[in-house]
Amino acid sequence: MSDPNANRGLAGIVAAESALSFIDGAEGRLSYRGYDIHALARHAGYLEAVYLLWYDALPSAMELAVFEGTLAGQRELPAAVLEVLGRLPDASTPMAALRTAVSVLGQVDPEAEDISHEADLRKAGRLVAQLPTVIASFDRIRRGLEPVAPDPELGHAANFLFMRTGQAPGPTAARALDTSLLLYLEHGLNASTFTARVVASTLADIHSAVTAAVSALKGPLHGGANEKAMEMLLDIGSTEAAASYVDKALAEKRKIMGFGHRVYRTEDPRATHLRRLAEELSVESADTRWFELSRAVERLMLERKGLHCNVDFYCATVYHALDLPVDLFTPLFAMGRTAGWAAHVMEQHMHNRLIRPRAEYTGELDRPWVPIDRR
Ligand SMILES: CC(C)(COP(=O)(O)OP(=O)(O)OC[C@H]1O[C@@H](n2cnc3c(N)ncnc32)[C@H](O)[C@@H]1OP(=O)(O)O)[C@@H](O)C(=O)NCCC(=O)NCCS
Repeated sequence: MSDPNANRGLAGIVAAESALSFIDGAEGRLSYRGYDIHALARHAGYLEAVYLLWYDALPSAMELAVFEGTLAGQRELPAAVLEVLGRLPDASTPMAALRTAVSVLGQVDPEAEDISHEADLRKAGRLVAQLPTVIASFDRIRRGLEPVAPDPELGHAANFLFMRTGQAPGPTAARALDTSLLLYLEHGLNASTFTARVVASTLADIHSAVTAAVSALKGPLHGGANEKAMEMLLDIGSTEAAASYVDKALAEKRKIMGFGHRVYRTEDPRATHLRRLAEELSVESADTRWFELSRAVERLMLERKGLHCNVDFYCATVYHALDLPVDLFTPLFAMGRTAGWAAHVMEQHMHNRLIRPRAEYTGELDRPWVPIDRR
């Protein structure tokens, strides 16, 4: 029998070919379609990066305007989806609501069962356009408020913030959210993307794959980490309390959320930009408390465990500065990543082979059958 610990969690296993993103965990490098994440985070908008991922080319100004305009015109939700959101139990979490809503969007999509590349592209566009409306509408409905209709004049991120509060955000806030979505867009075969590809490899449709991917993202070891990171920062409360909190957690062998990574052994290049955005937002609001606390925790983790923060840590600080409720942090990760999942579904559909690994059997063999009256 082979070593049962070999490849636990499929670490290091190559399970698919992809031309979407390149990650070098040792060097802390990430690129989308060959373009370095640092250039994209500084110069590109979220939908520009989505276009790059789906069409394998940077859009011209005209192509980007058409792409953004098409998606802006598709933000409204079908009545069936709004109705379902209104009927969810009070205890529904935003991630559970999102999972249900994506599934219902698939039920009512006019091309639900068409998995041709052209239909996949159109459905992916609708999903990316509709997800912000799902999240903002659910958040308003649960607060007893009417959903706010999308404003096609606002950009993708600004419109989300507008739909949640009814107020158009300032440019720094809109830009910070937009860049966070770009940083969440794509990251190789992480758990949710792998899930999406497994579903797509059965030749199931894109909404099925994204519903499953949302489910995989929900857990605290994946997308849920940005919420857990914020809960921890709120729990610590002040920079002075950081050292005793971290030391106690480490002594009790508890994980500090937002640190460590399966692939990166150095700084996660996405964290670099989220740290910058968190600082910008804190300076603009003249409330640097949470940024300073985040810096303190980051320094402690590096000192005590040699662990760097990952994408989720400063994302939590950014979303908190944007005044977003903690339980919307993971849905926002999903909002950014949906276009990445869609890109993988399209790659899978275009070069499909059923993904079907095997398990190392560790049970018994040749057990004698015992009739039910003799057990
Ligand atoms: C992301 C994560 C699941 C990667 O897991 P992994 O590749 O299996 O790494 P391991 O769990 O093997 O970590 C190696 C060591 O570092 C420790 N470690 C890893 N992340 C840690 C963290 N966030 N806090 C404290 N210790 C941590 C592990 O306990 C382990 O220590 P040990 O060798 O003494 O047992 C893990 O780092 C984690 O749980 N992080 C917190 C959740 C998170 O932020 N997830 C978002 C990822 S983008």
